[in-house]
Amino acid sequence: MRTLDDFRFDWVARCLHWGMAVPLLGMVGWGYYSANLNFYDPMYHRALYWHRSMGVVLFGAFLIRTAWRLGHPPAPLPEVMPAWQRHAAFLTQLGLYLFMFLLPVTGYVTSTSDGRGVDVFGWWELPAWLPPNSGRETWMGTIHGMAAILFCLVVVIHITAALKHHFIHRDGIFRRMW
Ligand code: HEM
Repeated sequence: MRTLDDFRFDWVARCLHWGMAVPLLGMVGWGYYSANLNFYDPMYHRALYWHRSMGVVLFGAFLIRTAWRLGHPPAPLPEVMPAWQRHAAFLTQLGLYLFMFLLPVTGYVTSTSDGRGVDVFGWWELPAWLPPNSGRETWMGTIHGMAAILFCLVVVIHITAALKHHFIHRDGIFRRMW
């Protein structure tokens, strides 16, 4: 007889999931706050500096998470789950991974438009790999902002599905990650 533990994500995957979920959502709010500050606001430079630094750290966490996931595939979903729900779950998770990659990359490309690297919490500088381009900051910044909106949409679908499984179907899907 299989128990819940047979279907659960391992503790590393669970730590990475919750350890990234909260800061990623915080980054969306902090990003909008930083991008809309007035130039004369005392937080103008500092807010974006923290946003960029945290974004680079989250990109590092994303790389670790992806490597872990590839090396440790999760246990299969329970057989009672309809095929369309499995496909939907797969596509939503693929979308989440895509945005965890795209958000830091577009943010990095926006930030390095002036040819300067990204100072990460004063620990080290991530160099600018692309040549400077004054126009890039605007259009890449727009893509970065739009990606954040789409990311939120996928997160809402993901959370709604998780809560539906927990409170309506009561099938233990949510507890796989808890
Ligand atoms: C890791 C996840 C990240 C999320 C969820 C995120 C989210 C956001 C959001 C929501 C905005 C506001 C966009 C707008 O108002 O149109 C923003 C702005 C910005 N972000 Fe990020 N960001 C992330 C990573 C990064 C990284 C790694 C960097 C740079 C290294 C970065 C650099 C910037 C810059 C420069 C802006 C201002 C763009 C502008 O004013 O047009 N972001 N971010």
